[in-house]
Amino acid sequence: MTARIIDGKAIAQDLRAKIAGAAAALTQKTGIVPGLAVVLVGSDPASEVYVRTKSKAVVDAGMRSFDHKLPADTPETELIALVERLNADPAVHGILVQLPLPPQIDAARVLHTIDPGKDVDGFHPVNAGRLATGLPALVPCTPLGCVRLAKAVHPALAGMEAVVIGRSNIVGKPLAQLLLGENCTVTVAHSKTRDLPAVCRRADLLFAAVGRAEMVRGDWIRPGATVIDVGINRVPGEAGKTRLVGDVAFAEASAVAGAITPVPGGVGPMTIACVILNTLRAACAKQGVAAPDL
Ligand code: GUN
Repeated sequence: MTARIIDGKAIAQDLRAKIAGAAAALTQKTGIVPGLAVVLVGSDPASEVYVRTKSKAVVDAGMRSFDHKLPADTPETELIALVERLNADPAVHGILVQLPLPPQIDAARVLHTIDPGKDVDGFHPVNAGRLATGLPALVPCTPLGCVRLAKAVHPALAGMEAVVIGRSNIVGKPLAQLLLGENCTVTVAHSKTRDLPAVCRRADLLFAAVGRAEMVRGDWIRPGATVIDVGINRVPGEAGKTRLVGDVAFAEASAVAGAITPVPGGVGPMTIACVILNTLRAACAKQGVAAPDL
């Protein structure tokens, strides 16, 4: 059997077109143009690519993008002052501070300064707590994208066994909360989990978010399972070049799984689409209008 490849790029493109339509309708009705401020400190090459991609997606959706690039030696107080200005700026509906931040900056302190209503990453404890208690919240973009990809295969996830490998605040924990909200039976596995392959073999839905190249092998996967690969790992490729691989050994896994996301072209594009979705939702909430059901 060969797994169905879940085309994250196409699904993201479709979502982005719908967001653009909804943003245009909001602008026509209220005059409001949703705006996203993206803050990058330093020049990490991967972060620069992410930030450029997010800004372009925002503009493509008919929204405004405000880019703030600060030098790597920016003091924490200066970054916090910028976040406070963005909190107060009525043209800015979403604020995204790209991680990781340089060592002189306490990332938690910065993230906790962001107005929870503008927190399109969903990293503020208010949003994490709202998600965990089932209240409306801005939800982290990668987990949102993962659930949408799983639903592209199984429109109703209720009752399914979901295993999430990884317990980060950015992906694993919020993803587990979203899956609980979908009435899945959720297991969160991590580096101390005993017999990880056996735990993974229970999964109807397997989400890999560990950041270790091709760690999940074919024989960890229940035949027919849906596999969502969050990993983006650079490994040596041909002719001295690097290539991108996920946390799942794709060739092995696709011989066993029922459906699987590729890397690249799976979760990555969905994360970007969900950034602009959250920007639209934040703008709607600010205006007191109902967010479109996309
Ligand atoms: N760095 C890696 N992933 C993310 C993310 O989802 N948001 C932000 N702001 N930074 C990141």
